[in-house]
Amino acid sequence: MTESYQIAGREMEAPIINGAGSISGINIAEMLEHARTLAASPIGGIKIGSFTLEPSVGNEAQYGYPVYYHNSNRGETYNSMGLPNVGIEEAIRIIPEFKAIAQQNNKPLIVSVSPSSIGRESLESIDQIEAMTTPLINIGVDLIVINTSCPNIVVAKGDRKPIMGYDGESMYDLLEMLERVYGREAGIGLKLPPYMTTEQQSMIPGLAQYILHCEAVEFIITANTIPNQVPRDETGNNILSVPNGMGGMSGPATSGIGREQLELWLNHLHSKKDVVSMLGINSGKELAWRVNRGASAGGGVTFLWESDDWGSAVTNMLEEYIQYEE
Ligand SMILES: Cc1cc2nc3c(=O)[nH]c(=O)nc-3n(C[C@H](O)[C@H](O)[C@H](O)COP(=O)(O)O)c2cc1C
Repeated sequence: MTESYQIAGREMEAPIINGAGSISGINIAEMLEHARTLAASPIGGIKIGSFTLEPSVGNEAQYGYPVYYHNSNRGETYNSMGLPNVGIEEAIRIIPEFKAIAQQNNKPLIVSVSPSSIGRESLESIDQIEAMTTPLINIGVDLIVINTSCPNIVVAKGDRKPIMGYDGESMYDLLEMLERVYGREAGIGLKLPPYMTTEQQSMIPGLAQYILHCEAVEFIITANTIPNQVPRDETGNNILSVPNGMGGMSGPATSGIGREQLELWLNHLHSKKDVVSMLGINSGKELAWRVNRGASAGGGVTFLWESDDWGSAVTNMLEEYIQYEE
C-alpha cells in the first residue's frame, strides 16, 4: 500500500473512511464503542454524524421498524433513518472524547453536519449550517462535512425547496457563506447527492465552478444515497415503516452509480479539490477502482452495517485493496 493518503491535507494510513450514518444516532455509548473499534482497525479516518442543529429521535421512534433494510441477494440497502442524533450542542460536548480516540490512533476525526427541518424551523438551511460549523471549527475537529443531500427548508412561503444539492441557488448561497465566514483551508467538505437525471447532470459544470472558486471547501464526497426509493416485499407491500415507504438507496447494487458520480466530478474539478467516493463500495477491488481512478479515498456504510465485526470488515477490504492498487 502507498505510504500515506490524505483528504484535504489530513494524512491517513489507508484510503478508506466510514460513511456518515455509520457512527451516529442517540446512543453515545454505542457511538463511542464503534469509534473505538474503528480506531483499532487500519481505517484511514473516523467519521461521526450527521448531526443536526436540534436533537432528533429519527423516524424509527415515530414510525417503528424497519427504517433500515438490506437485501443481500440484490445487494441493495435502503434507509429512512431520518437523521437520529443528539444535536449539535451535545455533539460539541462529546466530540473531545471521539477526538482523543481518533488522535491516539493517528486518524483524523471527521464530523458530518446536516441542515434539517427538525426544530428551529425559523432558521434557513444555510444559517443552520453556519450555526453548526462555527462551534466545530472553534473546538478544532480535523474535517467537517456538510451534507447537502437532505430536504432543504424554506420557511418564508411555508413550502420546501428541493434537496439542497439539486438547487443551484441554495448551493451558491451556501458556498458564498462558507467563503465569507471561514475563508481558506477550513477543512470543510461538501457531501453531494447523486446527479442522475439529464437535468441534474447538467448542473454539475456550474456547481463545479462554484466549488472551485470557494477556497473554504477543500473536498467533496460523492455520493449520498439515491433518494426516494421504495423497497417492496414479494407481495408488493412497502417494507420501510415511514408513511410513503421511501428511503435512500445504497449498497453494492449502486456501485455503477457511485463510479459514474466519481467520474463526473473528477472531470469537472480537475484535481483541484479532493474527491472522496461513496456508494456501493463493499470490496477492496471496488475501493481500488475508485482510488485508481482518482478518488482520495472511498467509504461506505453497508460494508460495516452488514458485518458482525467492523474491524475485520476494514482489514479484509484493505487486504484485497492492495492487490488491485495501481
Ligand atoms: C443507514 C445509513 C445511514 C446514513 N446516514 C447518513 C447521514 O446521516 N448523513 C449522510 O450524509 N449520509 C448518510 N448516509 C449515506 C452514506 O454516508 C453514504 O453516502 C453512502 O450512501 C453509503 O453507501 P453504501 O451503503 O453503499 O456504503 C447513510 C447511509 C446509510 C446506509
